[in-house]
Amino acid sequence: MARTPVGKLLLFGATGDLARRMLLPSLYGLHADGLLPEGLTIVASARSDNDDASYRALAQAALDEFLPEDRKGEEALGTFLERLVFQAADLSNLDTFAALAAKVGDVSGGLAIFLSTAPSLFEPAVKGLQSVGLAGETVRIGLEKPLGYDLASSKEINDTVASAFPEDRIFRIDHYLGKETVQNILALRFGNSFFEPIWNAQGIDNVQITISETVGLEDRAGYYEGAGALRDMVTNHMLQLLALIAMEPPATYDKTAIRDEKAKVFRALRRMTPDDVQQQTVIGQYVAGAVKGEIVKGYDEELGKDSNVETFVAVKAHVDNWRWQGVPFYIRTGKRMAARRSEIAIQFKPVPHSMFTGRGGRLQPNMLVIRLQPEEYVQLLVMAKEPGLDRDGIRLREVPLNLSMDAEFAGSRRRIAYERLLLDLIEGDQTLFVRRDEVEAQWAWTDAIRAGWAANGSKPKSYAAGTWGPSAAIALTERDGVTWQDD
Ligand code: BG6
Repeated sequence: MARTPVGKLLLFGATGDLARRMLLPSLYGLHADGLLPEGLTIVASARSDNDDASYRALAQAALDEFLPEDRKGEEALGTFLERLVFQAADLSNLDTFAALAAKVGDVSGGLAIFLSTAPSLFEPAVKGLQSVGLAGETVRIGLEKPLGYDLASSKEINDTVASAFPEDRIFRIDHYLGKETVQNILALRFGNSFFEPIWNAQGIDNVQITISETVGLEDRAGYYEGAGALRDMVTNHMLQLLALIAMEPPATYDKTAIRDEKAKVFRALRRMTPDDVQQQTVIGQYVAGAVKGEIVKGYDEELGKDSNVETFVAVKAHVDNWRWQGVPFYIRTGKRMAARRSEIAIQFKPVPHSMFTGRGGRLQPNMLVIRLQPEEYVQLLVMAKEPGLDRDGIRLREVPLNLSMDAEFAGSRRRIAYERLLLDLIEGDQTLFVRRDEVEAQWAWTDAIRAGWAANGSKPKSYAAGTWGPSAAIALTERDGVTWQDD
């Protein structure tokens, strides 16, 4: 793939949480490893009144606080800070863009913009950029979520952006795609011969995808109250994981082949009626409890008012195509759960006949566990015979075949997901970014779920902070004879 690195990066929201926690540490990491184009200038922008010097101080403090331990104290700090300049801008005010354009200067060597803002500001931002010549052929734009709150608003944003940038210069970010272990799903599925023949409804009984978090609202009440767990996590990250598990093998590793296959999965997701929604989804909201031994408040208490926003959601989804007919994909995610974990568990079908039954041996169906975080491993649970003379019968036990990414690749650097995505944005590789048709199909599916909740008058069920969600979520799978993988 031909890479065309840009000479400048324009970072909106540069004083915010995402910038301080993720973007600055990521850019620093790339800089320290010599991966940023030489001479790349980073123009940081936000509403606040900073100048170059005060912004560099802010960036230095952020790096101090958020840089991974193994990257602290490196010598490259001085040269990194020199790349940073600051220009205040208020995206809702067209007049600010002239000064911004002046600060950015000549963009003939290429400009990458990172835009992270409230859905209502995409339009003025894009119009403003266009009005001062910051949307021309040499400019590409990265868009951070939330890209709307439903299909209609997401289409509006996509239309607005499309009025200034063609799709091949739009980079929609889903930071899960920047995670090493998420990309590793592709290597696991398409780099090995033994999974693919059974990777279908004949071989697989069900798939579980869990992203559980122990954190609560984290000062994001304004955003989260308008989003809830479905929009915050399922529409984007969880459906992307589902697509990587469910998609057909792409012919090549490129932006068209991979995104085509993912989009087909989104289009094949079975659209739910309000009745289906009643049967196949569970929503919850945490009340006070204890997370990792610490007493924490309930959601309403944290928020300071009563709310019906779901902080937990579980969904039984179906992909209606030949490969996946009849295979449920159970998805669940929530805040203030028992443990922080992102994991995909693939439950294979049992063997057609057990020869061990007459000798007392019991079999469990095989399971493949892909742990994305906090640890990174792939585990295949297989049956083995316990050593012994078998006088009292044959004892069989499930044992893990273990691929620990942490141990196996101990020598290689662990990177923040945004390092990969920012570098791909700077170099112009769209493979790990989300295409418009993907986003819109994702919204179409989750909108039907929200419409079902509205039609059914669904209210979230309480779950104590520090648990695995409301008991109805357990019933959702147990009804099918399936148990969530919780250990
Ligand atoms: C974000 C959500 O997209 O992903 C957050 O807005 C969530 O609510 C976060 O906490 C989870 O990301 P990660 O990488 O920590 O699993």
